[in-house]
Amino acid sequence: MASTAGKTITCKAAIAWSPGEDLSVEDVQVAPPRAHEVRIKILHTGVCHTDAYTLSGKDPEGAFPVILGHEGAGIVESVGEGVTSVSVGDTVVALYTPECQTCKFCLSGKTNLCGSIRTTQGRGVMPDGTSRFRARGRDILHFMGTSTFAEYTVVADISVVAVTPKCPTDRACLLGCGITTGYGAATVVADIRKGSNVAVFGAGCVGLSIVQGAVRNGAGRIIVVDINKDKEEWARRFGATHFLDPVRVVAESKMSIQDKLVEMTDGGCDVTFDCTGNVGVMRAALEACHKGWGESIVIGVAAAGQEISTRPFQLVTGRVWRGCAFGGVKGRSQLPDLVNDYLKGDLKVDEFITHREKLANINAAFAHMKKGDCIRCVVDMSI
Ligand SMILES: NC(=O)c1ccc[n+]([C@@H]2O[C@H](COP(=O)([O-])OP(=O)(O)OC[C@H]3O[C@@H](n4cnc5c(N)ncnc54)[C@H](O)[C@@H]3O)[C@@H](O)[C@H]2O)c1
Ligand SMILES: [Zn+2]
Ligand SMILES: [Zn+2]
Repeated sequence: MASTAGKTITCKAAIAWSPGEDLSVEDVQVAPPRAHEVRIKILHTGVCHTDAYTLSGKDPEGAFPVILGHEGAGIVESVGEGVTSVSVGDTVVALYTPECQTCKFCLSGKTNLCGSIRTTQGRGVMPDGTSRFRARGRDILHFMGTSTFAEYTVVADISVVAVTPKCPTDRACLLGCGITTGYGAATVVADIRKGSNVAVFGAGCVGLSIVQGAVRNGAGRIIVVDINKDKEEWARRFGATHFLDPVRVVAESKMSIQDKLVEMTDGGCDVTFDCTGNVGVMRAALEACHKGWGESIVIGVAAAGQEISTRPFQLVTGRVWRGCAFGGVKGRSQLPDLVNDYLKGDLKVDEFITHREKLANINAAFAHMKKGDCIRCVVDMSI
C-alpha cells in the first residue's frame, strides 16, 4: 500500500463553485476510500460537452459546488475494504456508466446502463450518501460518479476498470467518454453490416468515432453531414466516403438534407446517427433512414426541455428510433477490448488530441472546446 493509504490527501482540483463561472484550481482534501471504493491518482482527463453543459447552469440537475470531469485515467492509489476488481498501482479508466454485474439492468443482457448507484451518483455523492471531497471547510459534490478534474478522486469500485499499462493515460482517458460513445454506438449498438449505407450528423469526437466503427464493420457509403465545412478533411481522414454541408445542400439543390440523403442512397440510409444534440437534426436523421428497416440512433444530448418529433408514419413504415449512452459499452467487461483495439492499431485515438493543457489552465480547455478546430483537449493533471 502507498504511504498515503488510509490518510486524507490534500491536492489540487478544479472546483466549480457556482454555475457560469470559471473553474477555480485550488486545494481540496480527498478522504480515503471507504468499503467498495477506490482512490485514483488521475494523470490525464479529457474535457467533454457534458462538463461544459453542467458548468453553464443549464442542466436542471446540476448542483454546486462540484468537481466536474468524467473522461479520466490514472493509477489506483489505494482501495477500500472489499475491493477485488482493481489493485493499487493498476492503470485505470473511470466509468461514469458503472457496471455492477448483479442488478436487473446488468443481468438483462440488453443494456449497458446499470441501476445500482444511479440515485446517489445523480445526487453527487458516493453510494453511502456522503462526499469524499472538502474545500474551504465545506463538502464538495462528486460528478457523474467520477470527478476527474482532481489530482486524486474517489469512485465506487463498480465505476472503474483496469486497462493495460501499455496504453498511455493521455490516450486511455479519451476512451472514458467520447471515443467509446461513438465507436460503441457503431459497433455494439447499431446494425452496421458489410455494404450498409451510413449517415453521421456531426463530426466531433463522437461522430468521427462512429465513422471508425462503420469502417471496421465494412459499411458501404459513410456520409458525414456537418455545418462546419472544415470537418470534411477530418471526416475523410477517418474513412468517410462523402461529406455534405447541409446549408449548401439546401441552397443548391432546394432539397432538405434528409431528401438528399434518401436520393443518394437509393431510398435511404441503413443506419444514421445524431451526434449534434440538435432536435431538428435528430428528425432529419430519422427521416433519412430507409423505409422498412433503417434505424436512427440518438447520441447527442439536447438542451433541457427540448423534444423530438416526426410524423408517426415514419415509424409505421418501419424506421426505428433509438438512442444509447456510452456507446452501449459495458465499461468493466468491454472497455479493455477497446484499449486493445487501440494498441493493435485498429482504433485511432492519438488523432483526436488537437489541444493539450495543464490542470492550472483547465479553463483554457473549455475555451478550446467551444471553437470549431478542437476535437479533444487533454488535460495533464500534474501541476
Ligand atoms: N450519449 C452519450 O453517451 C454521449 C457521450 C458523449 C457526448 N455526447 C453528446 O454527443 C454530442 C457530440 O459530442 P462531440 O464531443 O462529438 O461534440 P462536438 O461539438 O465536438 O461535435 C459536434 C459537431 O456537430 C456539428 N453540428 C452542430 N450543429 C449541426 C447541425 N445542425 N448539422 C450538422 N452538424 C452540426 C458541429 O459543427 C460539430 O462538428 C454532444 O451533444 C454531446 O453532448 C453524448
Ligand atoms: Zn462526455
Ligand atoms: Zn448493475
